[in-house]
Amino acid sequence: MATTKDYGIGEFDFPRGWFMIADSHDVGSDKPLAVRYFGRDFALYRGKESGKVVLLDAYCPHMGTHMALNSTSYVAQDGPIEGDSLRCPYHAWRFGADGKCNHIPYSSGPIPPAAKVRSWPVKESMGAVFVWHDPEGGEPEWEAPFLSEWDEPNWVRWDRIDDLGTINTHPQEIVDNITDAAHFGPVHGSRTRYFENEFKGHLAIQRMAGGHRTLAAEGGPLLVTEAIYNGPSILITRMSGLYDSYIFIAHTPVDDGSTHVWHSLLVKTAKGGAATDEDRAAAKMFSDMALAAFAQDFEVWKYKKPCLTGMFVQGDGAFLKQRAWYKQFYNPRAMKQEFLKQVEGIHVPRGMQAFPKDHAELAAA
Ligand code: FES
Ligand SMILES: [Fe+2]
Repeated sequence: MATTKDYGIGEFDFPRGWFMIADSHDVGSDKPLAVRYFGRDFALYRGKESGKVVLLDAYCPHMGTHMALNSTSYVAQDGPIEGDSLRCPYHAWRFGADGKCNHIPYSSGPIPPAAKVRSWPVKESMGAVFVWHDPEGGEPEWEAPFLSEWDEPNWVRWDRIDDLGTINTHPQEIVDNITDAAHFGPVHGSRTRYFENEFKGHLAIQRMAGGHRTLAAEGGPLLVTEAIYNGPSILITRMSGLYDSYIFIAHTPVDDGSTHVWHSLLVKTAKGGAATDEDRAAAKMFSDMALAAFAQDFEVWKYKKPCLTGMFVQGDGAFLKQRAWYKQFYNPRAMKQEFLKQVEGIHVPRGMQAFPKDHAELAAA
């Protein structure tokens, strides 16, 4: 398992950005959910009063109890969530959504100001819970992910997000995929004709068009994808071919060198009207096909050894540019421009054609 330091990415072990931490369905008001990301433990729950999701550091400042890993204490059995607050299972101190202790049942003295845990900025969007993680503690630099098609009746939403679990792979290996022009043929059976990367601020974009063994019909329209990393961890790919769809892939560091991965698909109905049962069945089938395609990448990541430097050749894609782009998230914000000035712009690997500005050219290709 290689760490951020082994890759020489930057000062911070974990990056700045929005990160998925849970499927919304798993976050309720009966009991908190124990989650671990960025080498930290958290308690995640839904406030009963506001219905809003709350993420607190897990360990109680009183005596260090993990507030989400208890089922036997009477506090836990009776329901530790009161309003938007959470009670610790050990001596029943209660913490608000802001992380401050607001009740100590047996003590009439004042609540010490230091009786608080860190409360993290969270946002629920498209059936997922996201946290803004920033080693410097700054405000979000961009919006949490949202697709307006999520609210349109002619798009079939994902129900649950496919949870692929945690792998002992550093997120760098996953982000490498955005520049990996040469893996499409061998891994996915796609005949890539057009391929380019663009780096722009916190966005890394891959535009690609070609035939595909499973996701585009033989002799039919090309599979056209535009994949955008909106920050270091959320990849949303617009795909047209068999169906118009968005692939949502999220990955979040668990410890330094391990990563949790999710995948799902938002699919436009075939005829464009409100989604029918038939559309939902077709979307489910297409989503499973896309998951199978993603599993092809996932299997490689799961068993490969870390690529700390790589041996890149002509035609490989802009890996080194991408790795420099990725450093902006592991270093102080003030250093961002240093990385961006090395990488911003469009990069086309040798032997590939740049993506045409006009989609009509693709249809004729
Ligand atoms: S350890 Fe949490 S209330 Fe005592
Ligand atoms: Fe891939």
